[in-house]
Amino acid sequence: MRIENLTKTYESAAGPVLDDVSLTIGEGHIHGIIGRSGAGKSTLVRCLNKLVTPTSGRVIVSDREITSLDGAALRAARRDIGMIFQHFNLLSSRTVAGNVALPLEVAGVSKADIRRRIPPLLELVGLASKADAYPSELSGGQKQRVGIARALALDPKVLLSDEATSALDPETTEQILHLLKDINRRLGLTILLITHEMEVVRAIASHVAVLEHGRLIENGPTFDVFAFPKSPVARSFLSSIVAHDLPPEIAGRLLPEAHADTDPVLRIVFTGDAAHDPVIATLVEQFRIRPNILHGRIDYIDGKPLGVLTLIAGGLGERLPDVLSYLSSLRLFGEVIGHAVRPAAAGARRAHS
Ligand SMILES: Nc1ncnc2c1ncn2[C@@H]1O[C@H](COP(=O)(O)OP(=O)(O)OP(=O)(O)O)[C@@H](O)[C@H]1O
Ligand SMILES: [Mg+2]
Repeated sequence: MRIENLTKTYESAAGPVLDDVSLTIGEGHIHGIIGRSGAGKSTLVRCLNKLVTPTSGRVIVSDREITSLDGAALRAARRDIGMIFQHFNLLSSRTVAGNVALPLEVAGVSKADIRRRIPPLLELVGLASKADAYPSELSGGQKQRVGIARALALDPKVLLSDEATSALDPETTEQILHLLKDINRRLGLTILLITHEMEVVRAIASHVAVLEHGRLIENGPTFDVFAFPKSPVARSFLSSIVAHDLPPEIAGRLLPEAHADTDPVLRIVFTGDAAHDPVIATLVEQFRIRPNILHGRIDYIDGKPLGVLTLIAGGLGERLPDVLSYLSSLRLFGEVIGHAVRPAAAGARRAHS
């Protein structure tokens, strides 16, 4: 799926809600799009199946330019695009099987064919025994499974998910994400995952883009964006998962410049195999640093370790360039993010002021 220079301006709004967004979603990928409330995520997904008509730009799904289609041609093209929603959007008057049948009925599939196609769809989402239940008899997770089966009924090439797990508890979220990943693997289905939760992206997305004020400010493999976020927005989204930023109570004590009574604060990003090297021991033994660890965390993104460690590098002095080149020889990333007043000096400074 290709999104090219997509722009959307509402007459009532001051600026564009989507501003020249271009993005290619690889076939069979799970591509996350994150952004704050109002960033334009839902507008973007609605442009993809032309529920919203973009002001300019193009959307291409399986070699068809959706944005140029209307009427019957648009309805036919939409069959390639399934969609699931935060609040499931099920018909309460219809059973589970009846809800899943709906897109097939609209597409004019015969009754006999519909009867044949429903059971495997319910099987796929783990609801084989609930065909005759009504939505009011289902849990949130089960309702979303119905939503997924309905979205898959017409064999789409792409599944759009707009906050599909936002109304679910963490455990149910995990089950639904697991189901989406399973479907992605089994059917080779491309999934676009709109969310405001990095945890959702971390769990299943191979790629992630960041939308801010209608602009795409970051895009790449999930691991790369998580390890080296370029934008403050991505960093703040990541704060629950990766320790890129120090907790404010520690950050507030750092000084921007070095003084006679300060030590540099070193932030080290560990990626891939280097997470297994005895880096701290080497800093102590070879570079004579007295590390005082301030903050750290190791997590697994896409099965690969990603760690961020922040330490006061006592005794670092002029060896900083050597330390940084040692770190980069291990393909680690190091930078000085501030300067900490030594404890004895901190007491003296307080007494002074
Ligand atoms: N039909 C409309 N007419 C005018 N403005 C709109 C319309 N739909 C959305 N907007 C505006 O576009 C902006 C983006 O809205 P959108 O729903 O795409 O954001 P979002 O990223 O999905 O937010 P959330 O995380 O809260 O769902 C908002 O400022 C919203 O007020
Ligand atoms: Mg939205």
